[in-house]
Parts: sequence; C-alpha cells; structure tokens
Amino acid sequence: MSDIITIKNLSKAYASGVQSLCTVSLSIRSGELFALLGPNGAGKTTLISTVCGLTTRTNGQVTVNGYDIYHDYRAARKQIGLVPQEITIDIFDTPWKTVRFSRSLFGLPRNDAYLKDLLKQLSLWDKRDQKMITLSGGMKRRVMIAKALAHEPKILFLDEPTAGVDVELRQAMWKQLQTLKSNGVTIILTTHYIEEAEEMADRIGILNNGRLMLVEDKHTLMKKMSAKTVMIDLQHPLSKLPEPLRHLSLELLNNQCIKFHYNSETGPHTIADVLSSLQTQKLAYVDIRTEQDSLEDIFVRLVNA
Ligand SMILES: Nc1ncnc2c1ncn2[C@@H]1O[C@H](COP(=O)(O)OP(=O)(O)OP(=O)(O)O)[C@@H](O)[C@H]1O
Ligand SMILES: [Mg+2]
Repeated sequence: MSDIITIKNLSKAYASGVQSLCTVSLSIRSGELFALLGPNGAGKTTLISTVCGLTTRTNGQVTVNGYDIYHDYRAARKQIGLVPQEITIDIFDTPWKTVRFSRSLFGLPRNDAYLKDLLKQLSLWDKRDQKMITLSGGMKRRVMIAKALAHEPKILFLDEPTAGVDVELRQAMWKQLQTLKSNGVTIILTTHYIEEAEEMADRIGILNNGRLMLVEDKHTLMKKMSAKTVMIDLQHPLSKLPEPLRHLSLELLNNQCIKFHYNSETGPHTIADVLSSLQTQKLAYVDIRTEQDSLEDIFVRLVNA
C-alpha cells in the first residue's frame, strides 16, 4: 500500500509557549483507516489542523498525495475533507445547500448525482431541504461529514466524529465510515472511545504530550502489548506456593486459586510452563480461566507509563 500522507519531524509550539507537537513523524497509507488516540490535550486536533493547513507548523514537512502543504497548499487541501471537532454549520441552511456550496468553494463543477448519492449514503436524503436547526445532533454530525466529502476528497479527517453520539447512531456511523473506506477514501479519525478504534482501525497511533508514542497495526498491537491473566482453580486448598513454583511469578489467592499474569513481550514463562510445574508438584486443578487485556488496558498502561 502506498503512502498518501507523509509527516516528517512535525513540531508545533503555540505563541503561548505550549509545545503541542514534538517532532512527529507518521505516514498514512492510501485506503487505510487510521485511529489517533490520546488523552485530552495530547495534540490530536493540532496535528489534524496542521496537516489541513489551518494551523502553521513550527518545523517539519507534510505532503498530502504528493503535494507539500505549504508550497502547494491549494492542491494539498483539495485532497482533504475535514470534519472538525466542533460542529460548524449554518443552522438556517439546508443539507442540500450546504453540500452544494461546499463543493463550489473548491471550484469543482456541479455534480448533483454525486451529492445525491452522498446524502443517501449518510441517510440524509429525505432531510435535504430541512433547515439544519430542525435536525438532531447526530444528523448535524452527518451533515458535517457530507460537507467534508462534497468535493470528493481522497482523504477524510474526522476529529472525534462520535463524541456525544448514542451507541446506536455511533454504530451506524461506523458502518457509514466502512462504506466510505470501501469506496477508497483514506480515513483518519481521533477518538476517545477506544472500542471505536478497536472495532474500526487498521492501524492505531497513540499521541501523548505532543509525542507520537506508538504506531502499530491494530492486531499486532493487541498481540504484542496485551497481557493475559490466567486463573487456575485448585482441587485442594494450599497454604502457600511450593518452593519450586516461586520463580514463575504466581500469586496464590484465597488458598484455592493460582493467578498467573503474563505478557508475550515480557515473558519468559508460558502457561505451558506453569501447567507442567503444577503437574510435577502433583497439584490438581479443576478449572482454568483466561482474561485478555483490551485495547483500553493497553492504552491506559502506555499513557500512564
Ligand atoms: N490555539 C491555541 N493556542 C494555544 N494553545 C493551544 C491552542 N490550541 C491548542 N492548544 C494547546 O495545545 C495542546 C494540544 O491541544 P489539542 O487541542 O491539539 O489536544 P487534543 O489531543 O485534540 O485534545 P482533546 O482530546 O481535548 O480534543 C493543549 O495543551 C492545548 O491547550
Ligand atoms: Mg481535540
């Protein structure tokens, strides 16, 4: 997969002195769905605003589909649709007028068939002539997405698209984003809902204090970083762990259950080591339960490290 956005050593210090981005380097692959996670104030919006040319960088280079965002600003901006964190629509306009106007701002010829399809895809077609003031919050958010896509951009940035959106609508929006992705749109979203990243993303980036701490394929991340806890219920109670089991970093709970916590990176012992040691010690067990870390557990560990 080729890269559609290349960010090299991007730094941003606001006039207030706040260093919001520190030498961030990141490549976004064409056609992927990239989720950017990070706590409040991490620099997610600043990163998006800088790539979209709304905020000036302090240092670094950004190219979008081959166009430098400073030297070829117009061409670069044309590649991008942006759904900002705050809803910014004229409440007395209608969805139809909004998308047509937004398209014209990019100097593109009229294409009502495309806009009709777009509104249909976002379940807004039957609301097209209603004043925005009469639409619900979730509908307004979808109008923002339609507006961002009116000029047929190759890349869509969504800054917390589902903040404050109820579960049902959030799932509907995930579906709509998947459809856009299958139509070839590259999607970069920020979110505080970690299950959103877990559900949708191909790759995940974690930003903290302006630094990109990690970029990883979602499945690799979960495999590499997630820890497992195994609970082994013993058949007979045990007053303490026998000496030969001590090196396995086990915990004895209520004299009846052995807890084994392991991480594929930190090793070195495996569940098989534990079970064979139990057998050697003639400790019979009646049940084994495993719990796996979620992406949320991994995120919290990384950000608090
Ligand atoms: N216009 C601005 N002037 C000065 N400082 C700013 C400005 N915008 C953002 N900042 C600061 O830059 C840092 C990063 O802010 P940013 O909005 O990028 O974070 P974020 O990751 O998007 O947070 P959130 O999850 O709350 O949206 C914060 O310390 C913030 O206070
Ligand atoms: Mg933000």
